[in-house]
Amino acid sequence: MAIEQVLHMNGGDGDASYANNSSFQRNVMLTTKHILEDSIIRLYCATFPSCLKVADLGCSSGPNALMVASNIINTVDAVSQNLNLEQPVFQFFLNDLFGNDFNTTFKSLPDFYKRLQQEKGHKFGPCFFSGTPGSFYGRLFPNDSVHFFHSSYSLHWLSKTPDELTVVAEPLNKGAIYLTKTSPPAVHKAYFAQFREDFKLFLGSRSCELLPGGAMVITLIGRDENNELINAWVVIGMVLNDMASENLIEKAKLDAFNIPSYCPTAEEIRQVIEEEGSFDIQRLETIRTDWIKNINVSDDIDEDTRAEAVAKYIRAVAESILKSEFGEAIMDELFRRFKNKIVKLHGVEKLELANLVMHITKST
Ligand SMILES: C[S@@+](CC[C@H](N)C(=O)[O-])C[C@H]1O[C@@H](n2cnc3c(N)ncnc32)[C@H](O)[C@@H]1O
Repeated sequence: MAIEQVLHMNGGDGDASYANNSSFQRNVMLTTKHILEDSIIRLYCATFPSCLKVADLGCSSGPNALMVASNIINTVDAVSQNLNLEQPVFQFFLNDLFGNDFNTTFKSLPDFYKRLQQEKGHKFGPCFFSGTPGSFYGRLFPNDSVHFFHSSYSLHWLSKTPDELTVVAEPLNKGAIYLTKTSPPAVHKAYFAQFREDFKLFLGSRSCELLPGGAMVITLIGRDENNELINAWVVIGMVLNDMASENLIEKAKLDAFNIPSYCPTAEEIRQVIEEEGSFDIQRLETIRTDWIKNINVSDDIDEDTRAEAVAKYIRAVAESILKSEFGEAIMDELFRRFKNKIVKLHGVEKLELANLVMHITKST
């Protein structure tokens, strides 16, 4: 399955939208903000460009899409003030797949500009935004045209489900939709091979597009070496398995389906970056987060209500792809069961993510 035809986060700004169900991803960006700030300061102070060109890859829609721009403007503003320099002009490119709801983000730009003007006053220089639709697994920009790439929570999506998992007479990963503790080694091999191919293409493309001295900060969902942590795909697989045994979905369909997403270990990332050869690793860290606790809901809600909110978050991300495979009719039931499953598993299993965050620079 090529994901660019089906994948999109839930659009708009309604109750089920990504815009309203993405404080988890926002909190991850806040946790890794110091790495973004540090890398921008280094880049800015090494080159002092009159126009700083930045692209956010896999920006999705809603408030998170403008958060990177806001963090970068604040960081550069502080440095410029300290050094008594004029602010540069900023040019931000927002990238995502063709089906992304860019409009919701663009509609929020007047408020964004107003806030900046209030906070920074007349000192604030021009800041231009544009949309760049397309897959980051390929070229998006001309040669030598961008100073800095940022991407958060997007690069664990592959360009497609690995062929070895789809084009076979006998499905390899029966009863699951992602790599689990019990998946045969061939499943890991197929997923990692696809990730390696995709990530190399990503790195090669960005290296052509970056100006000399250019850098990237990337955060993606990784995997712990022991495979102990359980992510949402594993839980959705358990729920689909229950539904197949009750004949609510076809067992053969579940056995043949695998989500086009892979969470690498830090060592795998290091290996692929070194093999590809266009970038030097300045920093590569793992930050663990509990995906049940790390959402913005009031502290005094009961476990059931929290689980319901988590289910809405996961639905805003996963619905488009699950719907295209299993049909819209089962979505309410699937996410009702998902909520119940995480109530059962929380505190028993490690419902945590190993986020990988890296700062890499274009090799000279
Ligand atoms: C979970 S959202 C993250 C959005 C935002 N960066 C954040 O942290 O809230 C992942 C985004 O990556 C996008 N994405 C996945 N594969 C992509 C690709 N090959 N090219 C561009 N965008 C992609 C998805 O469409 C989705 O909007």
